[in-house]
Amino acid sequence: MKSVAILLSGRGSNMMALVEHARGYEVALVASDNPDAPGLAWAAARGIPTWSLSPKGIGKAAYEQALLAQLDRYAIETVALAGYMRLLGSPVLDRLRGNIVNIHPSILPLYKGLDTHARAIAAGDTHGGCSVHMVTEELDGGRVLGQSRVGIEPGDTAETLAARVLAAEHALYPRILAEFVMTPLDRVRDLALALPETEERESHGQPTFFVAGKQFAQLRDDHHGDGLLVVCVRTGSSDEQEMLLEAVPDTYRKPTYLGPSGWVSIDLGGDPDWPLVEDRIARSWELAAPTRLLEAGGR
Ligand code: GRF
Repeated sequence: MKSVAILLSGRGSNMMALVEHARGYEVALVASDNPDAPGLAWAAARGIPTWSLSPKGIGKAAYEQALLAQLDRYAIETVALAGYMRLLGSPVLDRLRGNIVNIHPSILPLYKGLDTHARAIAAGDTHGGCSVHMVTEELDGGRVLGQSRVGIEPGDTAETLAARVLAAEHALYPRILAEFVMTPLDRVRDLALALPETEERESHGQPTFFVAGKQFAQLRDDHHGDGLLVVCVRTGSSDEQEMLLEAVPDTYRKPTYLGPSGWVSIDLGGDPDWPLVEDRIARSWELAAPTRLLEAGGR
């Protein structure tokens, strides 16, 4: 479970969504540069530690040192910005580099900065939306982790569009933050154990997932020193197995020991295709599940 700090400057509706839908992370601190931010009181009422300090009068450097001390105090591993209206300076960026994310109300790289909805409408765009992205020195410039598109309707104003985009933000941010903090094992576990009547046991020292006693997925981390991180799943037949191995050789491999029986392994190193992993785990579950479960509606 990763310890997350949420930084906000105002209302805090994204913070609320992150708290209410936390998965794979725990909100250990809500911090603000605005002692009057309404979001602080909401968090405090839920027993979440809060901290605030205005940089006015003391300057950015002193403010950020104080913020950093709080991040250390709560052993924060990941920072989620949620309507935080300041650029983070290098002390915080350097300490948590690669572990800071933000939500921005546009389809990045379009419309960095403010007034995103008015700019999208003025440009005649068919869609607005929101993006969760990594935070770097560049304003709204880090790698995009996930986006939602929201249609722009005739007669939309910046306010009406903002309201619909905000609802999309509340759905997107907790999902992307959960994915961001979870290790590949956490994610495989999450996908496998969400399927009916599944359990996890170790088999040959590897986390292995069963439905009604039958194995359908196994995570292998450096199995017999092969240096690979993979998840093994069933295919329907040796023909399907061969077809996958030939058609997408970068993604699928023949796993040792399981290979002859129609299993494939999917590479989880680098930047895996998670929708594909999800699909393959679910299909493998279907191939292993007893008819009783499939007749009951399956997954
Ligand atoms: C959101 O629209 C977010 O995308 C942007 O600032 C707004 C914050 O709203 N970065 P809230 O404080 O989370 O309600």
